[in-house]
Amino acid sequence: MNSLKNFVLTLGACFAVPTYFMVVRPYTSERDRLPVAYVMEDPGSGKAFDPAEQKGLYYPSVFSGDRKRGEEIYAREGCAQCHTQVIRPAYAGIDQFKKGWGHDQSGSAAPVATRPTYMWDYLHEDFALLGQRRIGPDLANAGYRFQGDLTGLTLAADAEKISAQKAIGLNNFYLYLYAPRVRKAWSNSPRYAHLFTVRRKEGTGASDALKLPENLSPELAAELNPPAGMEIVPTSAARALASYILGLKRDAPLPVSITGAPAKQESK
Ligand code: HEC
Repeated sequence: MNSLKNFVLTLGACFAVPTYFMVVRPYTSERDRLPVAYVMEDPGSGKAFDPAEQKGLYYPSVFSGDRKRGEEIYAREGCAQCHTQVIRPAYAGIDQFKKGWGHDQSGSAAPVATRPTYMWDYLHEDFALLGQRRIGPDLANAGYRFQGDLTGLTLAADAEKISAQKAIGLNNFYLYLYAPRVRKAWSNSPRYAHLFTVRRKEGTGASDALKLPENLSPELAAELNPPAGMEIVPTSAARALASYILGLKRDAPLPVSITGAPAKQESK
């Protein structure tokens, strides 16, 4: 009888603990979410903000134009087979000692504060490409890792340096697509060379033509370097994919309760 009791209790615990972490806890934290305070005017000048700009600040941005097409190419090329776009809640997990959720853990990138993803983050996507398994890293915030090194640069004073850094970030992404092993010798990611064309260089060449590193190993150099007078240019599909991936930053502030439940203060 005693062993039956233990069995029932253990079984109960096996269901209760996951139910707490996966149902009760997310529900309670979501229903208490308070609205984000909208700043209606510039505190400095007292001038009213343009509502259209406000929308961009507070809502996850809508994918349009090239970014929308990039999303379709991401689906078409099967990227979601190996990459997720979900950051787990930070309270449940035995790997919490790792700092910087959703970031490259190798320490090469400067850490940027991120948060777990919520349903809200996928609001404007027709089909949220959450992914199935993590053979490659999570891409929910990939945009941060391909923006170059922007530390200490300000939009007003360093516009040129910022665009130079952005070009480096973009080239790093194209390098990943064209030949992942250029970036990481151990990479087990597939090549997406079909998203590029090798063509004759006209004048100074395309501004976004692939810049391969100088110090390639002889085998890689022989395989990848284009013949003299030629250049490797991303196709429109690769460009669209780049604007989609480089735009992935799931950091919009979370407004009103996602569950629709009234915020705690109002219900009191
Ligand atoms: C077969 C699995 C697989 C597929 C399919 C795949 N990747 Fe990857 N990807 C990886 C692996 C593994 C890595 C990590 C190694 C590396 O960086 O090369 C990676 C790395 C990346 C990175 C770098 C992430 C970072 O933080 O540095 C990006 C960006 C990326 N993949 C985008 C894509 C895109 C876009 C596609 C679709 C065109 C795609 N991947 C398809 C396995 C895959």
